[in-house]
Amino acid sequence: MSAVQPPFLKPRPEVEGLQAYSAPLEGRRGLLRLDFNENTTGPSPKVLEALRAIPSDHLAIYPEYDGQRAAVLANLGLPLQPDQVGLFNGVDAAIHAIFHAYGDRGETLLTTAPTFGYYTPCAQMQGMAIHAIPYEGATFAFPLEAICDALNDTPRLLLICNPNNPTGTRLAPQRILELAAAAPQTLVVVDELYEAFTGDSVLPLADFSALPNLLVLRSLAKTAGLAGLRIGFAIGHAAVVDRVSRVTGPYDINSFAVTAAFAALRDQAYVDGYVAEVIEARAWLAEQLRSAGVRHHVEGGNYLLLWPRRDPAAVAQALRTAGILVRSMAGKPLIDGSLRVSIGTLEQMQRFWEAFQAVEAIPPTL
Ligand SMILES: Cc1ncc(COP(=O)(O)O)c(C=O)c1O
Repeated sequence: MSAVQPPFLKPRPEVEGLQAYSAPLEGRRGLLRLDFNENTTGPSPKVLEALRAIPSDHLAIYPEYDGQRAAVLANLGLPLQPDQVGLFNGVDAAIHAIFHAYGDRGETLLTTAPTFGYYTPCAQMQGMAIHAIPYEGATFAFPLEAICDALNDTPRLLLICNPNNPTGTRLAPQRILELAAAAPQTLVVVDELYEAFTGDSVLPLADFSALPNLLVLRSLAKTAGLAGLRIGFAIGHAAVVDRVSRVTGPYDINSFAVTAAFAALRDQAYVDGYVAEVIEARAWLAEQLRSAGVRHHVEGGNYLLLWPRRDPAAVAQALRTAGILVRSMAGKPLIDGSLRVSIGTLEQMQRFWEAFQAVEAIPPTL
C-alpha cells in the first residue's frame, strides 16, 4: 500500500497514478537463481582481479569514463565513433532516459506483449499511451504486419526486445531496419540484452546516418555477469545518444562498474565460453522437456517457458524449497500459467530438471 500524499505536495499526476516496477529480488542468495536470466556462474576472473586492484584513492574521486566508449566499440568490432555510444547505469537506466528524452505526454509507445516489464512504467511516467500488440499463435511469432500498420499512426517510440523476454521470439535484423526506414519519425529502440544467445544483432548492418531513428541497447549484465554492478550501453546516431545522455547525471555509473566493464570487454573469450555452455544446456533441457511431454517454448535468450501440470505457484514454491528459483509468469498476457526458467550451466540445468521431475511427479528418464 502506498503512503498518503501530503495535501500541498503534489507530484505529477502521472507519478501519482504510477505503480512502481517491482521485482522479487530479495532473499535470493545461496539459491540456484533461475529467475532473472542472470549469468549463473559470475564474471571472468580477470574482472575480479581488476576490481581487487582498484587503489583506495579511486574510491574517493568521481568516476572517469575515458576510453570506455571506444572499448565498447572495439569489443563489438564496430567502425563507429565513441560519441555514438552512451553509457548508462544498466540498460534500465538507458530505457528510462530514452523515455525522458523522447516520450512526451499524449504520445504513444508502440511495443509487443508480453515483453520486458520496465517499458510500461517508463511510458506511464511520461504520460504516454501504450499500444502493445500481442505475439502471434502457439509459437509467439513477432506480429510484424500489425506493427507495420501501427507505425502509420506515428508512435513516438517503438520498443522491440530481440530476442524477446520472456517469449524468446526472434526478429530478423533486416526486418528491424525496414521498420525503422518506414517510420523516420519514430525512435525504434532495439533491446538486444539477450542477443548473444541468438546472434541476431542489428548492429553489424545498421547505418545510423541513414537511420538516425534506430537505437540499440546492450548490456554486460546477462552475459559477462555484471548485473550487480549496473552498466549498459545505447548505440546509435551521435545526436540521439547525446539527447538521451542529457537526461542522466554526470556520474551515474560508478567506478567499480567502469573498471569491471573494461576488464569484461577485454575478455570476450570468457563470455563466449559462458554463452556456448548456456546454449548447450538450453538444448539439453529442451530435449528433456520434449521427451517427457512437458509443454514448453524455447527460442532465443538464456531462458525458456514451461507450463507445469500442477498449479504453477505451488510448483515455483516447491522448487524454492528445493533451493531453486524460477519466475512465475502469472498475469502476463498469452503466457499466464507458465514459469520462466533461466538457463545456466549443464550441471545447473540437470539439478533443475531433477527437482522439477520430483515436484511434478515425472518418472525419471533412464
Ligand atoms: C529485456 C531486458 N532489457 C533490459 C533489462 C535490464 O538490464 P540491465 O541489468 O542492464 O539494467 C533486462 C533485465 O532483466 C531485460 O530482460
